[in-house]
Amino acid sequence: MLIQYQAILKESVMSTEPLYLIHLTDTHVKAPSARQFLNLDSTARLRAVFAAVRDLSLKPACFLISGDLAHEGTRADYVHLKTVLDEEAATFGVPILVALGNHDDRSAFREGFLGEAPSSNGYYHASLVDGLRIITLDSEVTAAGEKVEGWLDAVQLSWLQEQLQTTAPRGTLIMLHHPPLRSTYRLFDDRVLNNPDDLGAVIRGSDVIGILSGHIHFTSVGVFEGVPSVASAGVSFNIDPTTPRSMRFIDSSGYNLVMIREGRMIAQPLMLPGTHRELLHWQIGERFQPKAEQNPDELPPELR
Ligand SMILES: [Fe+2]
Ligand SMILES: [Fe+2]
Repeated sequence: MLIQYQAILKESVMSTEPLYLIHLTDTHVKAPSARQFLNLDSTARLRAVFAAVRDLSLKPACFLISGDLAHEGTRADYVHLKTVLDEEAATFGVPILVALGNHDDRSAFREGFLGEAPSSNGYYHASLVDGLRIITLDSEVTAAGEKVEGWLDAVQLSWLQEQLQTTAPRGTLIMLHHPPLRSTYRLFDDRVLNNPDDLGAVIRGSDVIGILSGHIHFTSVGVFEGVPSVASAGVSFNIDPTTPRSMRFIDSSGYNLVMIREGRMIAQPLMLPGTHRELLHWQIGERFQPKAEQNPDELPPELR
């Protein structure tokens, strides 16, 4: 009887006491010896977010990083990132869960970050943190030897369906790099998750309470299958979503403070202090192709 009462008490505390998470995205880290993208010190930016969180008057249960962990994804980048994240995880005494994005290289990540044999297999997994299930998906797949960006394949979706057959005490959060929703920035219409309906069909009726993503480098919020879907500002740099025919790269850094309470997800976007100056204004005009970054000739020198 006592055991039963304790179980009820525990369940009740878990569902009403807030649980805090820190959601980072698009760290675009490079090893210190590499030429830094846009001359930004990606490691200093990542460290600055951890320092800002240290000053918050709350303790997060976990950090989440939703992809584009490394800018070019070399083995050295991931070895370096692992050193930084291991140090921060030890300081906070909480786990740091990561997803992969289109800038990441699966093989180099497995080798340099996970210490595994190199393999281009997708990286997706489920974790339980204080009763909250966090499911990390991999929204880039390899089909017929080609990288396909912004896609969840059938094998992964069937794995997700299996995971969602059971419920977690605080519900489930999904983290993936490509947002399942389009944003106000029409230029990125085909750069988000390109098969959102497949994801929607799997999470419908499940205990999923929210979706966290990145990739677009600005905060964007919407409702997907009845739950909040929040893309965070980038840690490394941001993009101005108000210029419809060009890309303005902005010198700023942000993250989300996420609260789970009473079965709901609430996300608080936070920006670090800074100049927010323009780093580069890429006038794309009519030359813009959806996958322009795959052809370096289409890019301004600063972005190659
Ligand atoms: Fe990114
Ligand atoms: Fe990305």
